[in-house]
Amino acid sequence: MFVKRDLISIYDLSINEVDMILNKAFEFKKNKKTVDILKGKTLGILLEKPSTRTVTSFSVGMAQLGGTPIFIDFSKSQIPRGESIHDTSMVFSCYLDIVMIRVFKHSDIEEFAMYSTIPIINGLTDYEHPCQTLSTIMTIMELYKINKLNFLKDIKITYIGDGNNNIANSLIAISAILGLCLTIISPNQYYPKKETLNKALKYVNSTNVKIKITNDINVIKNSDVIYTDVWTSMGFETELEHRKNVFSPYQVNEKLLKIVSKKCIVLHCLPAIKGEEITSDVFDKYEYCIFKEVENRLYIQKSVLLFLLNKI
Ligand code: CP
Ligand code: NVA
Repeated sequence: MFVKRDLISIYDLSINEVDMILNKAFEFKKNKKTVDILKGKTLGILLEKPSTRTVTSFSVGMAQLGGTPIFIDFSKSQIPRGESIHDTSMVFSCYLDIVMIRVFKHSDIEEFAMYSTIPIINGLTDYEHPCQTLSTIMTIMELYKINKLNFLKDIKITYIGDGNNNIANSLIAISAILGLCLTIISPNQYYPKKETLNKALKYVNSTNVKIKITNDINVIKNSDVIYTDVWTSMGFETELEHRKNVFSPYQVNEKLLKIVSKKCIVLHCLPAIKGEEITSDVFDKYEYCIFKEVENRLYIQKSVLLFLLNKI
């Protein structure tokens, strides 16, 4: 029997399921041959906000698995005219096999999932970006030549920037599930929300997760991985000037990197605003790592599609 599963949050996955998704993704990376496991299946793609990587990697991934991606133009759908999420979700369930959705409000995707009989994938909301974070983990494993999740515990990951955005929240969640060592460096007013941290800290006893939150950029010196993201996420554009001022001391630049070890890598989910959260020279220096994560998104999306459609 098909039991409907969604990927709305990293917390929807157990450690074994994360392992399963990563293993399949590495398999896809090793063996690039196309297969037709999803022949006859359709993936709906609905985006309320822009996307380059997520939409492309899911569309290509679905096609490489033999299925058909179908792009539903949010602005030309009936949603802006007032059709409810409840009804839209039921409509999707009549025609499609699985849907990837990018919306502003996290509660909207939760509502989609509630009324859908087919799996819903979170392609980014204001609160989480789970597929991105799975690719981050895959990339760290690849770059540090780690073949077992357990060994990731030795890697010190530092996220610097907006500690209260979707990327930070998904990194906190994956750290909780896998028991990672994560530091968030952020101005006080952009610290992760208490509820977000409390949820993660519930895993302390089971996974031994270590999360440190600070506004002190010098703490970066112990990092093996530095992760950053835009200072102004989609939907927060009215705060752009304020954010530029508050976040400017948190830029990833050559001066900051002088205090980290030579083996430390820099990652970014992209799109990057060079000159803001990261300088062009640092971006260029770590382009190899950053674009590995871009590439890995394709393998993760394929793996997530198979996982949610009960094919792995
Ligand atoms: N990183 C990411 O999700 O990129 P897009 O917004 O281009 O999909
Ligand atoms: N935090 C960024 C991530 C983009 C992939 C945003 O939401 O705009």
